[in-house]
Amino acid sequence: MNSDSESAPRAPAPVIGVTPADLDRAAAVILSGGLVAIPTETVYGLAADATNGVAVAKIYTAKGRPSFNPLICHVSGLAMAEELADFSPLARALAARFWPGPLTLVLPRKATCPVAELVTAGLPSIALRSPKHVAALGLIARVGRPLAAPSANPSETLSPTRAEHVAHNLSSKIDLILDGGPCERGLESTIIAPGESGAVMLRPGALARSEIESLTGSLRAPEAAQGVLAPGMMRRHYAPRARLRLDALDASPGEAYLAFGAPPNGVSPSLNLSIRGDLQEAASNLFAMLRTLDETHSAIAVAPIPGAGLGEAINDRLNRAGALSSQDGVREIR
Ligand code: TXA
Ligand code: MG
Repeated sequence: MNSDSESAPRAPAPVIGVTPADLDRAAAVILSGGLVAIPTETVYGLAADATNGVAVAKIYTAKGRPSFNPLICHVSGLAMAEELADFSPLARALAARFWPGPLTLVLPRKATCPVAELVTAGLPSIALRSPKHVAALGLIARVGRPLAAPSANPSETLSPTRAEHVAHNLSSKIDLILDGGPCERGLESTIIAPGESGAVMLRPGALARSEIESLTGSLRAPEAAQGVLAPGMMRRHYAPRARLRLDALDASPGEAYLAFGAPPNGVSPSLNLSIRGDLQEAASNLFAMLRTLDETHSAIAVAPIPGAGLGEAINDRLNRAGALSSQDGVREIR
């Protein structure tokens, strides 16, 4: 299967500064679907246009992330954020007090939110923050869209706090590195889910608990909070209502067929994750296509997906969704 885009050697990414001309160049890369490492006040982020699913899939490939852990969306401020998520009065007060700054808010994703499904990994929530860094904000303003950006490090390694760290580890996998000097905070943002019955701290980070509690009252731990989604702790991923049959080489009557690459002889696919057999494209289509087929079919047959590269994560998610849909009524992974 063709997965050249994941393995082909590439020239090292240029390291440039953060002048207005540099930010114009970075914005052009982002708008053409590329990856740019950006300084923030916490750690360097690996940014892509959050509304472009194929670009977002490249983040997972570059980081070698084993699964579709949801990503934080970086916004210019409250106005952009309110187009993506529903803000309660408490959420609005937190944003007003701490943005721009190292606070990430996990909020209900709006039905009209234009962010790619892959960013939120099929969750009904979205993580948002406005970074307190003139270059990051300048880039978001130029792009005019939210930027999806996890920390710019290979999965399971230390987060980068200088451009050199990024260049050392990811240079051949990304398109451009903006060197804004060392990160002021050097520690990732604090992640909070402000709920109906108080706020939950999903990840301690660069903004101290006490500062947040001055607004929220006592922050609860995720384990104590019912129904709060914290990937890595209490996982909840989208699983279709429809029964899934994996590694399928045909479709039974009534089954939708979700193809990958050339379909088997005689099978006419309902949808194709990637006609050219590209795992990045398939990853970016996965959640959206399952959702579409789920609306019209009670059973979905899914073509075999190669296990290499992003295929591991795609198969992981399909296996979970398939296992769950065989147990009536159970739709959550914890
Ligand atoms: O400071 C930071 O937060 C840095 C800079 C680049 O902004 N970003 C960062 O991203 O640390 P990352 O991907 O390494 O960590 C994001 C965390 C993950 O643990 C993920 O599970 C969680 O945010 N997360 C994202 N979306 C979520 C959601 N909808 N619900 C709960 N947790 C979410
Ligand atoms: Mg990280």
